[in-house]
Amino acid sequence: MLTEVDVTGVPNYVADVLKHALVVGGTRGIGKALVERLIGMGWNVEATGRQQFDISKPSSWETWRLTLPADLKFDLVIFSAGELTPYPWRDKLLSDMLHSYAVHAAGPVCFLSWGERQGIIPWWARVVFISTVGAINTGACDLGYGAAKAALEKTAKALKENAPWEITLIRLDLVNTRMLRQLPSETLHGRPVLEPEEAAELILSEAGIV
Ligand SMILES: NC(=O)c1ccc[n+]([C@@H]2O[C@H](COP(=O)([O-])OP(=O)(O)OC[C@H]3O[C@@H](n4cnc5c(N)ncnc54)[C@H](OP(=O)(O)O)[C@@H]3O)[C@@H](O)[C@H]2O)c1
Repeated sequence: MLTEVDVTGVPNYVADVLKHALVVGGTRGIGKALVERLIGMGWNVEATGRQQFDISKPSSWETWRLTLPADLKFDLVIFSAGELTPYPWRDKLLSDMLHSYAVHAAGPVCFLSWGERQGIIPWWARVVFISTVGAINTGACDLGYGAAKAALEKTAKALKENAPWEITLIRLDLVNTRMLRQLPSETLHGRPVLEPEEAAELILSEAGIV
């Protein structure tokens, strides 16, 4: 199989080459739909959940790294990990809030810089973050989650300006996954709900992959 590269050495995304993607949070929900769609398009995909590594625990990244081929480089990294603990903000502990921040904002950033140092996230990689309309305009159903996503949005903007990767941030409304099913139905206000496959298509289209 011929590997097409342009003059800058960047692999050509539309060419028939073996492309490697990492989907963090690829074991369920939107991430799983992304994994299935990418595999259907011929990508080689590493799908991870907490069993493989915890995005909020750097020591677990090191152990997972040992399971990968030494020379593996990801052309695409999608952060689709997420946790939601919908209980009133007055009952939240500082540790809950910090955990949300670590999973949704700080963990992905530190993972990127670690992955760059490890040589698994090269400069030509595309990086995708998934945010929520709740980062901006919903109530305090899970304030830690919403605030962490707001931090992610700032982070994505800063990385767009300062990091080598092509960054996409997509802000979704409701998607029919385990995460959504944790929310009390009265908080959904009859808003339309996408299926994970529809969300995956939207994300890959925004990122210029399909
Ligand atoms: N569903 C929605 O309505 C909606 C709307 C807007 C944005 N989003 C965002 O879309 C992304 C995907 O959400 P989803 O609805 O697909 O959720 P989901 O069905 O609950 O799936 C979450 C995924 O994240 C993984 N995960 C959870 N905690 C993790 C951790 N600490 N470290 C590593 N992996 C972890 C889970 O893996 P295991 O369970 O296998 O460990 C699973 O693969 C999230 O970032 C979410 O905030 C969702």
